[in-house]
Amino acid sequence: MIPDSKNKVTAIAHANIALVKYWGKRDEKLNLPAVGSISLTLQELSTETSVIFDPGLEKDTLVLNGQAAPTRQEQRVSRFLDLIRGESNVGAYANVSSQNNFPTGAGLASSASAFAALALAASRAAGLNLSGRELSILARQGSGSAARSLFGGFVEMHKGISENGSDAYAEPIAPADHWGIRLLICITEEREKAIGSTEGMKRTASTSPYYNEWVDTSPQDMVAMRQAILSRDFTAMGELAEASCLKMHGLAMSAWPGLVYWNGTTVELMQAVREFRKKGKEAYFTIDAGPQVKVLVRDEDAAFFQKELEKWPGVKRIISTTPGPDAQIVENI
Ligand code: DP6
Repeated sequence: MIPDSKNKVTAIAHANIALVKYWGKRDEKLNLPAVGSISLTLQELSTETSVIFDPGLEKDTLVLNGQAAPTRQEQRVSRFLDLIRGESNVGAYANVSSQNNFPTGAGLASSASAFAALALAASRAAGLNLSGRELSILARQGSGSAARSLFGGFVEMHKGISENGSDAYAEPIAPADHWGIRLLICITEEREKAIGSTEGMKRTASTSPYYNEWVDTSPQDMVAMRQAILSRDFTAMGELAEASCLKMHGLAMSAWPGLVYWNGTTVELMQAVREFRKKGKEAYFTIDAGPQVKVLVRDEDAAFFQKELEKWPGVKRIISTTPGPDAQIVENI
């Protein structure tokens, strides 16, 4: 490929939900996580991103959901493109256009699918043909959770120990069709969250009295979750996912000032899920850095739970999703 031939490459990547949460960094510059994490890639939530490097441009531009993106986001994308320019023969700026099919910034992991799609589209547009591991390492530098969104199904992110981040990448544990489970995403608020993950993590690591315990107890959560997934043990997987979620939020609340990502409906839904379990209907919740409650259910129970949770007063809508596929190139012209 001739790097400056202005070819347009479009990639799609899917969002993911962490079953064992990432929160905290061991290196901010390279965006190296302080803990490993395990996620499920989501079929229904995706980002489609097109990239064209054009020698005629005077800066990188980002169009997000059809509108010029805020400067802060454009700069984040531009810094990411600098990494690709550093690794390729391309020096030109790029036009980037990105479309999410779900609300941006409300704790639905838009940065995960966004930087996974961008890593794939931009590296290919720059003439690089990176391996899955190399793409994961690249995407991680845009957003930690993006390293996982390159892969479908159940995915593990290694925290790594090397200083240069060469061992901080994600890889699949099991494919999307490994297990018939569903995630019901209960949207309780469509607005952007107040404090993003990056800032929240920074505050937590520097002020929480529990931070070292969070880091120290992470390896055992990883081992147990990996085992639960491989043996398709829904109860173990759900209990571990709920525990990791509560541990992460407990940690974030113990920062100074404490980070509370929940609203009233979030708490009500957590209790409702536990009430269903008491009555013999098994489901488990997990929550990221936002107020949405994501409910893990078996395929055969999905219709029942969707109907029940839709009735809840604070639930605006529910996105029901199965496990999703690898990120992929959809256009290269
Ligand atoms: C709560 O990947 O958004 O969703 O690396 O700073 O971009 P940065 O953070 P980000 O954090 C995700 C946090 C989380 C848990 C998770 O997805 O593991």
